[in-house]
Amino acid sequence: MYNTVLILDYGSQLTQLIARRVREAGVYSEIRPCTTPAAEIKAMGPRAIILSGGPASVAEAGAPALNREILELGVPILGICYGMQLLAHNLGGRLATAVNREYGPAGLKFDAASPLWDDIPDNSTVWMSHGDRVLAAPDGFRVIGSTADLDIAAMADDERKIYAVQFHPEVHHSEHGAAILRNFLFKVADIAPDWTMSSFIEESIARVREQVGGSKVVLALSGGVDSTVVAAMLHRAIGEQLYCIFVDHGLLRLNEVKGVMDNAARYMPGLNLKMVDASQRFLNALKGVTDPEQKRKIIGRLFIEVFEEEAKAISDVKFLAQGTIYPDVIESFAPQGTVIKSHHNVGGLPERMQLELVEPLRELFKDEVRAVGLELGLPDTLIWRHPFPGPGLGVRILGEVTAERVAVLQQADNILIEELRESGWYSKVWQALVVLLPVKSVGVMGDARTYENAVALRVVDSVDAMTADWSRLPADLLGRISTRIINEVDGVNRVVYDISSKPPSTIEWE
Ligand code: XMP
Repeated sequence: MYNTVLILDYGSQLTQLIARRVREAGVYSEIRPCTTPAAEIKAMGPRAIILSGGPASVAEAGAPALNREILELGVPILGICYGMQLLAHNLGGRLATAVNREYGPAGLKFDAASPLWDDIPDNSTVWMSHGDRVLAAPDGFRVIGSTADLDIAAMADDERKIYAVQFHPEVHHSEHGAAILRNFLFKVADIAPDWTMSSFIEESIARVREQVGGSKVVLALSGGVDSTVVAAMLHRAIGEQLYCIFVDHGLLRLNEVKGVMDNAARYMPGLNLKMVDASQRFLNALKGVTDPEQKRKIIGRLFIEVFEEEAKAISDVKFLAQGTIYPDVIESFAPQGTVIKSHHNVGGLPERMQLELVEPLRELFKDEVRAVGLELGLPDTLIWRHPFPGPGLGVRILGEVTAERVAVLQQADNILIEELRESGWYSKVWQALVVLLPVKSVGVMGDARTYENAVALRVVDSVDAMTADWSRLPADLLGRISTRIINEVDGVNRVVYDISSKPPSTIEWE
């Protein structure tokens, strides 16, 4: 196993960022709830422990407490924000509860030399977001950093290798934050970086082989990044024991089915892949249905049905592979109230099918999944695809889904994507889509009056789909897309651009 850094989560929205920064430094990190028992922590054998920030105030009733047993493990500890306050509170320091929250940039002054500050200039910008503050460092600690507003912005017990910072080194706004974290990992904790994507692939392949033995594994391949990377990984690990099923629900993009099949043939030659054309079944089931939630349920249920039928046709399947990634895992143990978006992927598959799960990407962040995919030889165009919802165009046709509407939307969507690719904008935006509105309005084509559908273009910038803003596409590009859609797509005579942000709007319209 890799040298591991354990991050105990005290409820900050930034905990994932700490984990990512550590991994970017080449050190494997795992997030665990702050309530994780010491025995479990010991069993993980972490080389260092980081205590995250959190929204609570240490002195208030019910605030998450420090598990003092971790102090006995003899591993280096770094407390960040709430983590610093916890250490101060538990080791005999003095705290002041918040009068005003300090939020925003501050200049970090080095009050004493410390390995944390190696090769970092004095007075760089760090990001603050805290209420409580440490007034007196505990015995054995020395103050190593301060800001104009804060006498103790960082403290250290060099003997026990316990360090604490009030600011957030994990955010990009902290100018040398990543370097401070690296100093903790390499200068304080003396960890050798051994987390690379190629070592991950090697280890993961060995793990899958051991788990699966000679048994068969089924995988629902969607053509999206996660399931394709799983397919590539398992194809390399277990070859013909992997059976991929690609369900065409008829709600995919134009030429998507061919694209997925071609990509598989080219980049995973010899892959067992069956395409199932179930589009008519989906259309029949969606007939007359206009309620968005009901449409989602029907698509989800039918998907499972079709997949199950196909999987059962393969004899002796023991495992179901899934593209679960680390944020899904973390979200499942996040404290109540911090989950902003619940997952809407096809659920219920594993429970129903009574198959054991194979989840080779469970430990990876999305950027790591992409790096693994590239390392496995998948092309850039596939790895950097925009997200596409499981229910596909079904959520982008408002009102009833019909074959005609799907065809109209596919063409309009294709023009949008083509133009974005051609102009270089595709890779600059998070996601781009077209929504077909069941609203007809009057237009004029030549000398004739038209009475046709409107479509909305939705193009957004985002980092994680939790929040998004509309992309400021150049007006001439928007104009070209609009002209092409109206000229080339029968059934559309009006194009509008969605300029709402999320929140309060969402990315998809439904
Ligand atoms: P919203 O519309 O909630 O979308 O702002 C956020 C992101 O999630 C995608 N999305 C889905 N992805 N299955 C998926 O795998 C789904 O059912 C689904 N619904 C929405 C959406 O495209 C956007 O990227």
